Amino acid sequence: MGFPLIRPRRLRATPALRALVRETALEPGDLVYPLFFNAALDEPHAIGTMPGIFQLPVSAAAEQARLALRAGLGGVLLFGLPITKDPSGASGRDPQGPVPRAVEAMKNAAPGLVVITDVCVDEYTDHGHCGVLHKRRDGALEVDNDATLEILAEMALVHARAGADVVAPSDMMDGRVGRIRRALDESGFSDTPILSYAVKYASAFYGPFREAADCAPKFGDRAGYQMDPSNAREALREALLDEQEGADMLMVKPALGYLDIVRELRRASSLPLAAYNVSGEYAMLHAAAAAGMLDLPRAMMEVLTSIRRAGADMILTYHAHAAAEILRG
Ligand code: PBG
Repeated sequence: MGFPLIRPRRLRATPALRALVRETALEPGDLVYPLFFNAALDEPHAIGTMPGIFQLPVSAAAEQARLALRAGLGGVLLFGLPITKDPSGASGRDPQGPVPRAVEAMKNAAPGLVVITDVCVDEYTDHGHCGVLHKRRDGALEVDNDATLEILAEMALVHARAGADVVAPSDMMDGRVGRIRRALDESGFSDTPILSYAVKYASAFYGPFREAADCAPKFGDRAGYQMDPSNAREALREALLDEQEGADMLMVKPALGYLDIVRELRRASSLPLAAYNVSGEYAMLHAAAAAGMLDLPRAMMEVLTSIRRAGADMILTYHAHAAAEILRG
């Protein structure tokens, strides 16, 4: 059996037929919008490398919450830029810091909106790494895994107390999901879910974000804790470990270069799966469109659909509002 009996084009003949056999759906509720709250700002500040994305004053939080809710987004993901930085990122554990204050304002303005907080100290440390440093035996500085766990647990708790619906550790320390779970449970937050950045690669595609969140490492890189882009089996191992430690949802990051990993985790775990369509992926589309190389709305929808097709239930993306607008028609 084959051609001319079989003609796949039959089902592509009209928009209605194509809609009938469409396999992948994308909805505003699948999209989570990242937001950057800067404690030092009174006015929005445009991020040069990410057209249309701004660092925002905390006073803009309530309005952003209402906008996200009205757009039907699945949620928002909050990052903070503090006034002060130090070696341990103490400002990240300040209940009056930009993230806890923004969470509070957002939950007051739009109680039905899912507010997720990024739990990682790189925006709060003066050296820009995702944890506290110690000297290795050979004299080199590295991030101290176990000491960092205590800091992350405290930070997650500060976010939960402020009203965060979900906490999302992005640091890639070993054991942090279990440590944060214990901290939440011991303080009466046993119902606060953890979205683990379980599989986070050491990627060049975070470049624009490091301007957005002012968190570029002052020396070295993050390869000592984030994953090697060459590894797939290790992704499975990371994801299953986080599942055992009590993660409620898993994330793969970045998305586009790692759709094989998204697909593999979709098969290996029954947990809800997220993929982070990161800053560099966003900037790339905008740069190409600005140069007249492609059609931005079409490219954007194609990218987001591809991530869903690979197996992600939800997508963290700076395109969230633009895509939701198109989906609403
Ligand atoms: C770490 C963090 C990063 C991103 C999200 N959380 C940066 C990094 O690991 O270097 C990147 C997000 C993006 O590029 O859009 N707090």
